[in-house]
Amino acid sequence: MYRTHTCGELRIDNAGQRVELAGWIQRIRKMGGMSFVDLRDRYGITQLVIDDSKDPALNDIVGRLGREYVVKATGTVAERSSKNSRIPTGDIEIRIESLTILNASETPPFTIEDDTDGGEELRAKYRYIDLRRNPLKKALELRHKMAQETRNYLDSIGFIEIETPVLIKSTPEGARDFVVPSRMNPGEFYALPQSPQQLKQLLMVAGYDRYFQIVRCFRDEDLRADRQPEFTQIDCEMSFVEREDILTTFEGMIKTLFKNILGIGFDQDKKFKYHKAPLSEGVFPRISYQDAMKYYGSDKPDIRFGMEIADIKDLTAGQNFAPFDSAEYVGGICVKGAAEYTRKQTDELTEWVKRPQIGAKGLVYIKVTSEGIKSSVDKFYSAEQLEKIAERMGAGKGDLLLFLAGPWKRTLEALGTLRIEMGNRLGLRKSDEYAPLWIYDFPLLEWDDETGRFYAMHHPFTSPKPEDLDKFFGADRDRIAEVSANAYDFVLNGTEIGGGSIRIHDQKIQERMFEVLGFSKEEAEYRFGFIMNAFSYGAPPHGGIAFGFDRFCALFGGQESIRDFIAFPKNNSGRDMMMDAPSKIDEGQMKELFLRSTI
Ligand code: AMO
Repeated sequence: MYRTHTCGELRIDNAGQRVELAGWIQRIRKMGGMSFVDLRDRYGITQLVIDDSKDPALNDIVGRLGREYVVKATGTVAERSSKNSRIPTGDIEIRIESLTILNASETPPFTIEDDTDGGEELRAKYRYIDLRRNPLKKALELRHKMAQETRNYLDSIGFIEIETPVLIKSTPEGARDFVVPSRMNPGEFYALPQSPQQLKQLLMVAGYDRYFQIVRCFRDEDLRADRQPEFTQIDCEMSFVEREDILTTFEGMIKTLFKNILGIGFDQDKKFKYHKAPLSEGVFPRISYQDAMKYYGSDKPDIRFGMEIADIKDLTAGQNFAPFDSAEYVGGICVKGAAEYTRKQTDELTEWVKRPQIGAKGLVYIKVTSEGIKSSVDKFYSAEQLEKIAERMGAGKGDLLLFLAGPWKRTLEALGTLRIEMGNRLGLRKSDEYAPLWIYDFPLLEWDDETGRFYAMHHPFTSPKPEDLDKFFGADRDRIAEVSANAYDFVLNGTEIGGGSIRIHDQKIQERMFEVLGFSKEEAEYRFGFIMNAFSYGAPPHGGIAFGFDRFCALFGGQESIRDFIAFPKNNSGRDMMMDAPSKIDEGQMKELFLRSTI
């Protein structure tokens, strides 16, 4: 036996007990003829004390210790004379009788502290050392708890977890597939699933009417703080359901996670706390895609704060201010209490919105001050006109109004980005505050000018809203573009955490979908034949949702980046810095897989 206790559990009540601990050396200090050693394991840190004058052999071992050495220590628990209130074991120390070095360690490349001195790259290379640090340990513990709670909850309401294969057929639509060459089938490839979408639908055909899986998904796409090439979904599907059933079922799951993990409850009042835009009934606010764009300039609005966008086009027409007169859309936000912004600050904001990522042509401001209204367009608009605008924006004394003009969607998106930026600058996006909501009625399709075809906004199995079927089956492209999907996203604090839809279970609608997406009959048959065929054997009405598990965990941990909630993540170029993957394979392996190097 290596240990009787962990390094996190001994307290004053254990004083006098003889104990054995094992762990890593965090720190060694010498003071007044004594050596103090902090011993660390997964559970905490315990102080060991060695009287330097007592035992030369023990002294010799202490002299050989270095940071991150693995040791076993035997001694007696004693009350400390100077207590450390910052750690749970801070009232006690272990008076050491014997120490055994179980393994030596090289000097670690960075300190194992909450605020380490290691840069990102170094920590990625030595991820197993980085994982010894508290913030990462806490993140992985949170992830484990989230998974346990999810499983318990879904199990308690009759869902069963079914594993689906990782080597599947490539059906690229959305992101790019990662592919795996098949040795036994020359020239053919498996794909790694972007999600188990089709398989879970087949499970519905098979009658498993409440399925879930905490499952790894793979997407070869550009990476960001909240995107990894392999990530995990809580993937779910249900039969004999409508949208309402899915939203209520998963609101139950989300609320249970909030309650059991963060101790947060969502009552009926809370839903109105942040939100002025029209709401449908429901415990979490629900906002249609159109309204989300209109009021927040985003399909994943952060509603922890107001600052909703307002359209002022009608109030600006005909005053010879060309940027507004020529624009399809003119809108703005009201930044409470920011009228004090100096010329320098508004100039800086103007430069900020002109950056290519946002692409606005310019920024117009109105300041509502105690001396009256001032604006960057005083030359074009009278005081009364500016006041009317301020009134529309709900502005009071001390507020700053910011306006952009241009094409409808692009300008709203730019305003949405500006709104988030101002929310950040004013400290309105607090990481310990949570504002969940559902977005529904997304467009079914997106037209792409470059390839001259429609793409499914969600995926090709998403059902059009029944009331739009006429448009969907019609020949008019503009009307097809207007078709709404029976799809919904779950959004938390401005991050898309989950997305799902009611699926097409009618073969004719599915065939039409492939036709609208520009697949020939043969192509649709080659790519999706198996699922079309399965649907001819009694597909029940069904729908589902998948949550980005890593994103969910990161938000619960108060972070925007998912990287620390994944034990071994990839960097921004999709590399595993620790294993140094991807890497070349040898000629023999290439040959066996019928691959030829083109580099
Ligand atoms: P969707 O593509 O919206 O839906 O994915 C569901 C959720 O997965 C998360 N997510 C990611 N997280 C980290 N890294 C990524 N690269 C990444 N890509 C997506 C997001 C997203 O909301 N099959 C459908 C679900 C369904 O219809 O049931 C699907 O995969 O949080």
